[in-house]
Amino acid sequence: MSPERVPFYDLASLHAGIRADLDAAIARVLDGGWYVLGQEVERFEEEFARSAGTAHCVTVGNGLDALTLTLRALGIGEGDEVIVPGATFIATWLAVSAVGATPVPVDVDSRTLTIDPGQVAEALTSRTRAVLPVHLYGHPCDMDALRDIVKPHGVVLIEDAAQAHGAIYRGRPCGTLGDAAAWSFYPAKNLGALGDGGAVTTNDDALAASLRSLRNYGSATKYVHERQGSNSRLDELQAAVLRTKLPHLAQWNSARRAIARRYDEAFASANVLGPGVAHDVLHAWHLYVVRSEERDAMRAQLAQHGIECHVHYPIPPHRQGAYAHTALSRRVLPVTEQLSATALSLPLSPTMTMDEADRVIDAVLSCGASLARG
Ligand SMILES: Cc1ncc(COP(=O)(O)O)c(C=O)c1O
Repeated sequence: MSPERVPFYDLASLHAGIRADLDAAIARVLDGGWYVLGQEVERFEEEFARSAGTAHCVTVGNGLDALTLTLRALGIGEGDEVIVPGATFIATWLAVSAVGATPVPVDVDSRTLTIDPGQVAEALTSRTRAVLPVHLYGHPCDMDALRDIVKPHGVVLIEDAAQAHGAIYRGRPCGTLGDAAAWSFYPAKNLGALGDGGAVTTNDDALAASLRSLRNYGSATKYVHERQGSNSRLDELQAAVLRTKLPHLAQWNSARRAIARRYDEAFASANVLGPGVAHDVLHAWHLYVVRSEERDAMRAQLAQHGIECHVHYPIPPHRQGAYAHTALSRRVLPVTEQLSATALSLPLSPTMTMDEADRVIDAVLSCGASLARG
């Protein structure tokens, strides 16, 4: 008999729990007859800004655009350098390249896997305009250290908060810790739409106004275009879905934390390298990533037990074909490269049961034992 499957992330069952409310939200938009930049977007922007703790939220089409348009709105482009972590989803780098600036990668801390402030200090030059810290897997970056390093140089801090909905750093929410924060609402994120979506949160009035124009053909007044903008808007349907899901985010994150705690307790006494968490943060647990030299064998064995795992990310940006023609491809980033070779993301979702978590734990431990025997 094949073992009962433990899915990596079960979005359908998450949505089943709030199905009637989602149906009502979708019907509201359908019946309202207004589908782009309307009341749902306006309300979601107010509600998300309030929950994030910022003056403004400007929604856009996706997380990559949230990063790219923020860089454009700040006037960052050709000849400028933006410091990025080596370990991230490639979107962080692509945004910098898209505006014509140069990504300057530095390595991440080997424990928290977030950008190493000491290396940021070393990478600063007279051309550095911004640093893009990524709260990788939902673990907040050391933002106070980064601020102390960059602010004397007038360098902007833009949080990549795509994986950090609900994460907290020293009592302050991620998304309020830099000059602006870029969010993704890709379906599998802690707060996800039923398609693509993104947003920028900031306390900077001028930046928010500029983003509102850039996302809408460079226009603040219909058919008046002060600049060459894009079309990157969250649609009303996605905004209505996100408004329905936002009130559940805190509870869903608590459920993630309970599973992560179960994993932590089980792996602490075993020979499994679990995630390192700083003492002064509340992790959002977008992903629970263990590291093993035998990662591929482990993934295959877990699959035999019906446990679905993924790798975030098997190839770091500087080793991707997208950067093969650049000097960046020759950079050596030891922690990032080691992470790509060893990282394995275990199943983690708010609808996961403790029984499922225990099955993952048993399989990981038995796998560790059999791999050790060789
Ligand atoms: C760290 C990080 N940055 C940026 C993005 C880009 O977001 P999106 O997929 O919405 O474009 C993602 C998500 O995929 C991400 O994980």
